Formats: sequence, structure tokens, C-alpha cells
Amino acid sequence: MSNLVITGGSRLCGIIEVPGAKNAVLPVLAATLLNKGTSILENCPELDDVTTMLEILGALGCGIRREGSRIEVDASRLTASSIPEALARKMRSSIIILGALLARCGEVHVSYPGGCEIGLRPIDMHLKALSQMGAQIDGINDGILCCRAEKLTGCEILLDYPSVGATENIMLAASMAEGETIIRNAAKEPEIDDLQAFLRKLGVQVSGAGTGVIRIQGTREIKAEPVHRIIPDRIVAGTYLAAAAATGGSLVVTGVIYDHIGSVLYCLKRCGCRIKNYSGNVIALESNGNLTALDLVRTSPYPGFPTDMQPQMVALLSKCRGTSVVVETVFENRFRYTEQLMKLGADISVQGRTAIIRGVDKLKAAQLEARDLRGGAALVIGALAAEGTSSISGVNYIDRGYERMEKVLSSIGADIKRVET
Ligand code: UD1
Repeated sequence: MSNLVITGGSRLCGIIEVPGAKNAVLPVLAATLLNKGTSILENCPELDDVTTMLEILGALGCGIRREGSRIEVDASRLTASSIPEALARKMRSSIIILGALLARCGEVHVSYPGGCEIGLRPIDMHLKALSQMGAQIDGINDGILCCRAEKLTGCEILLDYPSVGATENIMLAASMAEGETIIRNAAKEPEIDDLQAFLRKLGVQVSGAGTGVIRIQGTREIKAEPVHRIIPDRIVAGTYLAAAAATGGSLVVTGVIYDHIGSVLYCLKRCGCRIKNYSGNVIALESNGNLTALDLVRTSPYPGFPTDMQPQMVALLSKCRGTSVVVETVFENRFRYTEQLMKLGADISVQGRTAIIRGVDKLKAAQLEARDLRGGAALVIGALAAEGTSSISGVNYIDRGYERMEKVLSSIGADIKRVET
């Protein structure tokens, strides 16, 4: 166990390079299960969730090689169709394996997935779609989900909500189903586009990612040697930009895709930050630390403001002059971290899915506890902008989404260290 010890007040200035996206690499790793050849992935972030996913693939019989940000998965022979319980519970994204494994093996046993404590996070849409494709779902007995399908058949699926995970699961199952699958009201996140790009390298005919209607023509036999570079992590980029904004800093992020964080940059500009974009993949932010509140920020599916940036934005707004209103529409329980921000002196009241943030002049150091990934990132931003030395426990949550955060932040002038407890 470790704590982050942060002495606030330093302006964050410098250059950082954004790593590959956690939420893109996980479904692409699941997709490697479809391939009876070896898949090579580049720009993979070195995160605990990626390690857990590789452990799951290993337990299913895949050969894995990992060297820095390069991962090779040889799924030519699978020896199991059960995801070990301890691994599945560690990570909600283990459910992403369902569609691919079912397509490849005709059978899956997986315990009900774990993940961050930010809401109920049901998987009803995933299961409904797979049963429409012909899977038999034997319910959740003792927390174990059993799915069987002698044959998956392509069909038309209308999602009640553009769920990212459900869209990915259906794309994976449909890749090996008989005939065409059409997903309507599909998620439009850039990570869906990245999955489509990888599936195409596997030889799957898939189109429409980013438009809300995705068409997949299934193919029984997939054997390819794809080399695929994972897209940059838009949430990591947004988090460090928000941290620089909160500290009155000046930050350049490289290796990012401008449009992927357009909604976040829009809000940062409206707060008063100066933002420049060079050649679509370098973004420079300058903040004088004297920022103003935002009347309304509503999270929504892409290209709206991402729920995964909501806590970090609230941390920034807690020091912006005036009153801001933030409405969370994606997850029902995503304001728990605000209690911790209030320990720093933030003035936030939460009613249901709405947070009202009255900007304060100063935040003051406190002992804080991270209880979920992005809430934890918000506490880091709060502590960086506060006077005095704060300590944050629950760093394991933060490590799920940020590679060596203390090293990155130190390199741009933060006074931060990891202390083993
Ligand atoms: C993914 C991201 C997560 C991000 C979220 C929304 C990964 C690994 N995680 O999560 O970081 O916060 O997208 O951008 O990519 N829902 C149902 N039934 C279902 C599925 C979802 O009701 O079967 C609900 C969820 O409870 C939630 C909403 O739909 O309220 C959005 O969830 P979804 O888009 O599926 O998020 P994830 O794929 O879990």
C-alpha cells in the first residue's frame, strides 16, 4: 500500500507525452482472442488493469509477451473458457471478454465483474444483445455467469443507451457470427473507432464506428498477423491539462488527438485558459490561475463532456471564481469524491446527479482517501492546487488509470512523492 504526499502551490510547467488509452487497449486485447494468429499491439499503457487482462488471456491459454509498451498475444490455441474469479472481480472490463470468448469457444463462465464504485454498472444490455444473437444465458448463479452458443447469428440490435462496453462486446461477438450484425444507437467514443481499426486488421468487415450505426459482417475463421498502435489516452491528457490549469501553469501535451478532447478543451477555454493546438496532436495550455466558473457542464456520451473527466473538472472548478453547476448523466453515483475535496475546503453541494460548486480563493491541505480512479485523480488536482502538504491514500485506484503519476507530475514541477505505508 502507498500514499501520495503532495505539497501544493507549484505551477505545473513543461511537456508531457500522453500514453496509450486504457479504455482502448482493453477491448483490443479482448479482440486478440478472435485471432488464431499472433497480434502485436504498440503504445499499450503500463497499468494494473492491462496486467490483469493479460493474466486473464494467459489463463485462457494465450501466449503473452510484453516488453514496455509492446504486447504480443498468441491466441492460436485456447485451453479454457472460464475466466478465473479472482481476476474477473479485479476488473469490470473482464466482461468485454464475454463476446469474443463466446464467439471463439461457444461457452464462457465468468464471475460478475468488479470495477470502480461509481454506480450499479449493470450488464443487462450486453446480455440482451448476446441472447438476440443466439446465446443462452444461464443466469447468474452464485455470482457466476454461464453463456453458451453453438452458433452466433448476426442480427439487428438497438441499444437503449449508447453503452461503450455493450457496443464493444457486440462488435466482438458479431465478428465471428454468421451473417451481418447492425448495432443502432452504438457508442461513438474514439475507443470504438480504435476497436474497429483493429478488427479490420483481423480481416473483419466492419464499418460505421463513430456514427452511431455499426455494421459487422461475421467471419468464421480469423487468422491474421496484425500490428496495431493504440490511440492516445484522452482522459489522461485531460487530467494533466486540468491539473496545469488549476495550478496556474503552462503545459504542452504531445501525442494527443485534439478532437478526442474537444469538449474538455472547450470547458478549459471557457474557464479562461489559453489553448493552442499544433498540427492536431500537440496541445499547449496556459493558465494565469485566475479562472472563472462554468454555468453548466453536463456529462454525456461522446462527443459530449466525458464522465471520466467530471471529477477532475469539479476539482478545478472548486478554485474558479463564481458558481458552477455540474450534472452527471452517465453514472448515478459519481460524486462521492466531493466529500474528500471538501476536506480541502472546497465548497460543493451535491443533490442527486447535480453538484453546485462555489469557487473558493484557497484550498488547504488535508488527509484524503481515493475511492475510485477518476475521483482519485480529482483529489490529486485539489492537493496540487492547495496550500500545504496533503496525503492521499487509496493510490491503487489511481494506478488503475495513470502510469507512474507521481513521476509525470514531478517532471513538470509538482512536489509529489509516493510513500510506502
Ligand atoms: C466505459 C469506460 C468508462 C467510462 C464509460 C462511459 C472502459 C473500460 N470503461 O465503461 O471508463 O466511464 O465507458 O464513458 O471503456 N449500462 C446499463 N446496462 C448495461 C451497460 C451499461 O445500464 O448493460 C449503463 C451504466 O450503468 C452506465 C451507462 O450505461 O450508467 C454507461 O455505461 P457504459 O457506456 O457501458 O460504460 P462502460 O463500458 O462500463
